[in-house]
Amino acid sequence: MLLEVTELTKRFGGLIAVNAVSFAVAEREVVSIVGPNGAGKTTLFNVITGLLRPEAGDVRFDGRSTLGVAPHRLATMGMGRTFQNIRLFAHLNALENVMIARTARTRAGVLDALLWRDRAERARTVEQAEALLDWVGVGANRFRMPSELPYGDQRRVEIARALALEPRLLILDEPTAGMVAREAHGVIDLIGRLRDGGMTLLLIEHNMNVVMAASDRIVVINFGERIAEGPPAEIRADPRVIEAYLGVEE
Ligand SMILES: Nc1ncnc2c1ncn2[C@@H]1O[C@H](COP(=O)(O)OP(=O)(O)O)[C@@H](O)[C@H]1O
Ligand SMILES: [Mg+2]
Repeated sequence: MLLEVTELTKRFGGLIAVNAVSFAVAEREVVSIVGPNGAGKTTLFNVITGLLRPEAGDVRFDGRSTLGVAPHRLATMGMGRTFQNIRLFAHLNALENVMIARTARTRAGVLDALLWRDRAERARTVEQAEALLDWVGVGANRFRMPSELPYGDQRRVEIARALALEPRLLILDEPTAGMVAREAHGVIDLIGRLRDGGMTLLLIEHNMNVVMAASDRIVVINFGERIAEGPPAEIRADPRVIEAYLGVEE
């Protein structure tokens, strides 16, 4: 298994946001974590990606425990991600936002990149970033600032930036959050292309419809606990899942 989450528990004071959750993701598999708002999805994501320390349990990436490993180290180890609230550098254009990813590798790399000491490396970085932006469908807007881009394009840039580090696992936290239907469909298409290209994906979603077509397996959490796990058809018909979703306003 590329990612193994075992009995993971995260508390905020008296609130148990994630309660002994276990699941695994195999290479080239698409697994989705779904659950109503407040279920603990983002908290789970933040523990997996090293932003939060769990009270109990373990996360293994490629067989090694990631607990205590800094988020930027996990990124260079092959764990790519995007955020529920898009995080792009507001003062950098789309192309520069993707180029900056490669400088995450080392501290010296950041300095070298900012000063453009290495012309060959700069050329490679530009070429890669342009190719990625073309691939996600934002090539024509590569010189635009994030604030000038529609929300769907901002997400595409964020995905391109994650891909620039050539991740072995890509984790997307609510990739269609806040999007109008047309934008959401575009991002769902993009996820399908990532999947078809053999990317291992962990999707974190509130919207069950988004993950039904794209996922090999779905893990449902509610009030921090795993309540169901299985292929999409099974999950769709699971009474516990239906109840969890009917119990909240959509
Ligand atoms: N930093 C925090 N401090 C305190 N409580 C938090 C914090 N982050 C999340 N929570 C709480 O943990 C629960 C799960 O939240 P979250 O992981 O954001 O859910 P989801 O992403 O599924 O909507 C919620 O009750 C939320 O209010
Ligand atoms: Mg969330």
